[in-house]
Amino acid sequence: MEFELLDKKIGEISADCEVVFMVGKNLKHKWVKDLEYFKPLNFKAEVEETVFIPDRKKLYIAIDSMEHDSIRTACAQAIRILKKTNFKSVKIGLYAGKEFATDNIRAIAEGFILGEYIFDKYKSNKIKSSIKKIVVSTEEYSGKTISVKIIKKELKTGEILAHAVNFTREIANQPPDDMTPIQMGEVAKKLAKENDLQCRIYGEEFLKKNGMNAFLAVGRGSIHPLRLIHLTYKPKNAKNRIAIVGKGITYDSGGLSLKPTSSMITMKSDKSGASAVFGIMSIVKKLNLPFEVHGIVGAAENMIGGNAYKPDDILTAKNGKTIEVKNTDAEGRLVLADCLCYAQDFDPDYILDFATLTGACVVALGEYTVGVMGFDEKLKKEIMRAASASGELSADLPFNKYLPKLLKSKIADVSNLSSSNYGGAITAGLFLSEFIKKENKEKWAHLDIAGPAYVEKEWGCNSYGASGAGVKMAARWMENLLKKF
Ligand code: BES
Ligand code: ZN
Ligand code: ZN
Repeated sequence: MEFELLDKKIGEISADCEVVFMVGKNLKHKWVKDLEYFKPLNFKAEVEETVFIPDRKKLYIAIDSMEHDSIRTACAQAIRILKKTNFKSVKIGLYAGKEFATDNIRAIAEGFILGEYIFDKYKSNKIKSSIKKIVVSTEEYSGKTISVKIIKKELKTGEILAHAVNFTREIANQPPDDMTPIQMGEVAKKLAKENDLQCRIYGEEFLKKNGMNAFLAVGRGSIHPLRLIHLTYKPKNAKNRIAIVGKGITYDSGGLSLKPTSSMITMKSDKSGASAVFGIMSIVKKLNLPFEVHGIVGAAENMIGGNAYKPDDILTAKNGKTIEVKNTDAEGRLVLADCLCYAQDFDPDYILDFATLTGACVVALGEYTVGVMGFDEKLKKEIMRAASASGELSADLPFNKYLPKLLKSKIADVSNLSSSNYGGAITAGLFLSEFIKKENKEKWAHLDIAGPAYVEKEWGCNSYGASGAGVKMAARWMENLLKKF
């Protein structure tokens, strides 16, 4: 699918069909023309209601606002419908609003590309979309003239971001036996080649040498050897150094603290944080971001077996802190503990980690929202603002002075399990903070993507399966960071 921007009125463009959005029941928009069809077709223009009028070759979609997120979702809805037709080209207006919102333009490209994605690698019969071209008209909602150059750039950025999200989805969707830690390393190598990244891949030996015993313990029960993956993007005159760390548990069985069957299903997606890191690393060069970006992934499989780590083990992490294991299903924080220590060796200005860390985060915020934790209010706010501008939902989960006590251990420096049943997302975040050096506390943010990373019931631009959560928000955060220089 490709996009073409034509500096023409929508009526002057020829295409196999047209997509028209309308806000709620406001049928007065100049592009809404076929009112006489609505009544007999019982189209009431309720939000998300659609109607296709064959005579006019028009697909009408009612949306709740002309904000970027509604437009993104509506474009996804449009492509899901049009995919099933034999149309090859679609035309659409530029819903940029009176203010000329660049986010709306991106949203058009993103919506179509994200909405088209389904995970069908293992399906014998793949449904191929016939839509090859989306023609965007510069005719503006308000009729105002706007710069074609900027519109083109925004569409292109939307395309880059959406393809990165689909790339992330595809990795996270792979079944566990087809995306082992070694294969995660192969993905990284290929990615590095295509994007001028430096790629370092380490195994057990390196971890032993560097005292990364928490990460090592998690991978021990699996027949698949673990991998520490480090991708680096180093442009000339970089303005800042950013480390993005991802949890890459290629399968989380829970280990000896075995998960019940129903909770184990979907745990192939416990590599979503790592997959997001790959997605982010795939766009830094394409977006020309003047930052040195380190993508660090801890890839391991959490399994049972004679060699598996166990509750009662005490592990020494890279920074020398000892951890009492009380539950082997709280494995992500152990892998991240060592990866965060490793990331700090490179003196980053910012450290962001992405992880499907806790079920508690899903309980707290629901399935759509990323949990944002950290010590710096400003950094958290910037991340949440970026998330919202990029079409991702996020919310602050605040640390406080009482919660750290819940991680106390009688026999080690810290326990990997909170002594309370409540606040599990935040105590997991606080566990990670034990591995952030004092001088780096304000540079770090932890993003728990356990809710939105895997979609069991289609929502927004997401079909069933991995959503690619984290990619768009991180990209936007970096874009915004650039404005500071
Ligand atoms: N990978 C899970 C968290 C998870 C749960 C992600 C649901 C996505 C959906 C994590 O490793 C885990 O098992 N966490 C435990 C922690 C507990 C043992 C303290 C959990 O959330 O139950
Ligand atoms: Zn677990
Ligand atoms: Zn896990």
